[in-house]
Amino acid sequence: MARVAVTRVLPGDALDRLRACGHEVVVHPGALPPTPDELRALVSHADGLLCTLADRVDEPLLAAAADLRAIAVYAVGTDNIDFEATGRRAIAVGNTPDVLTDATADLAMALLLAAARRLPAAERNVRDGHWATWEPGGFLGLELRGARLVIVGGGRIGRATGERAEAFGMDVTFVGRGDDLHRALGAADVVSLHAPLTPGTRGLIGRDALAALPRGAILVNTARGELVDQLALAEALTSGHLAAAALDVTTPEPLPADDPLLDAPNLLVVPHIGSATTKARAAMAEQAVANLLAGLGGEPMPWPAEPSA
Ligand code: DGY
Repeated sequence: MARVAVTRVLPGDALDRLRACGHEVVVHPGALPPTPDELRALVSHADGLLCTLADRVDEPLLAAAADLRAIAVYAVGTDNIDFEATGRRAIAVGNTPDVLTDATADLAMALLLAAARRLPAAERNVRDGHWATWEPGGFLGLELRGARLVIVGGGRIGRATGERAEAFGMDVTFVGRGDDLHRALGAADVVSLHAPLTPGTRGLIGRDALAALPRGAILVNTARGELVDQLALAEALTSGHLAAAALDVTTPEPLPADDPLLDAPNLLVVPHIGSATTKARAAMAEQAVANLLAGLGGEPMPWPAEPSA
């Protein structure tokens, strides 16, 4: 029997499969992630850990988790994991690829459409009682057919977003490592970010990249907040250089109420819900549990995670 620490209450019944195999499952209660102290206490006698992207798994945490031998990340992104530290201890790490691709690509399109057609401002106009009449020139936005979309990151979610955008008639270009990002941005009506967070992508969309975009472009980010220099983004929105930004991810999460980004015009921000469909989250739980069962049994995990290059 192994002891498994789970940092959040998960939807569905996947954890019952751990219990059915005789493992003891300890779930951190409540709606918030454990604090660093709570997380240390939670893992101190754990053989397995099921964590989310909100839990930092680093050297100090692992030093407090002498028995830990398997970690299942309930996400596809694993930038919260220090792979050098897990590797030194031969701790197996797995993640949940594929099952959230469609959900996240759907959200990227939803954000793209909402920003292109100015839905947040139009909705506010109605709710604030400012809707006086049908306006020939009111809330004019970007039509997707023929608009140029630059997708940064040609992985599963980037490609799935590209397929959707092509179905809307967009002219899609993918930019990966080694491509000339600023040149591609120079011809973009919309840029959508789908790259993993690595030392090479942190701050990728900084002041210069934003300046490279044509005036009136739209930024969509469903990847990681740290890809974007948020101060530069706030300035680009305020000056009108960018027409809009639609973000599922920010730095930090959540954004504090007084964060300058929240004062920027034409910003749509949602609380990191890319994978938040009933189907995707249930499948993620199944994958995470399968990874743990394998790792605790000394078998290769079915979905092993590698540090992103
Ligand atoms: C992930 O899986 O990395 C998403 O950001 C959350 O589901």
